[in-house]
Amino acid sequence: MNIIKLNAIDSTNSYLKELAQKSTLENFTAVVANQQTLGRGQLGTTWEAEQGKSLTFSLLLNFNRFRIQDQFYLSMAVSLGLISALRPYLGMSLNIKWPNDILAEKDKLAGILIENVLKGTNIHHSIIGIGLNVNQLEFPTDIGNVTSLKKLTGTNFNLDELLFKVVDSIQKYVDYLEKEDFQSLKKIYLAQLYKINTPSMFEDANGLIFLGKICTVDENGRLVIELENEKTRKFNLKEIKFASR
Ligand code: BTN
Repeated sequence: MNIIKLNAIDSTNSYLKELAQKSTLENFTAVVANQQTLGRGQLGTTWEAEQGKSLTFSLLLNFNRFRIQDQFYLSMAVSLGLISALRPYLGMSLNIKWPNDILAEKDKLAGILIENVLKGTNIHHSIIGIGLNVNQLEFPTDIGNVTSLKKLTGTNFNLDELLFKVVDSIQKYVDYLEKEDFQSLKKIYLAQLYKINTPSMFEDANGLIFLGKICTVDENGRLVIELENEKTRKFNLKEIKFASR
């Protein structure tokens, strides 16, 4: 594993993406920053983290032949790698909130931003951005329900050690992609999916609140929800969220 350590950068994802375009980098090159000035989250949001207290890094994955249509399995592999690395520290229920947030109980512990660089119908390489809340004790009030490893365990964590463990664990799940064993990945992912098979309130893109239960995720990564009339509906990321009330 090749690590590039930076003190401050706009975004480790942007930095690594640019670097990977200019030069050939070793697979699993990681760029880790003490501070990001313009950290990016999913759906164009920003990712803010207290300087030196969280693990903010991006990881390069090079592929030989990985089809764009299978990209959700990469998201599964990364979230499973991350959650498995964290499990030994937390004697409580960790879950993956679709598509790839890591939750401890109901609180967000880590987020993942994957950016794929394509070549024809394949993914040439991916930039896997991870923001993991580690040693923070306080969070801005406007970012919802969040938590950190320190808040959950009362102890301080060494960020370098954690980085090794997380990358090592992600590597193990990326092996499933290399073997094209997508069905095993899906099975492990669904077993840890937040609120699966549990009646829950959702809000669609039109603001409509409805009752349903997550039954699975389809081959395109869409969330499949069974409605009250027993019909199912499939949703893309921008089309659905858990209702806040
Ligand atoms: C999300 O939950 O919205 C995804 C957050 C991803 C944040 C990480 S921090 C390191 C990497 N660099 C970025 O700019 N974003 C990702």
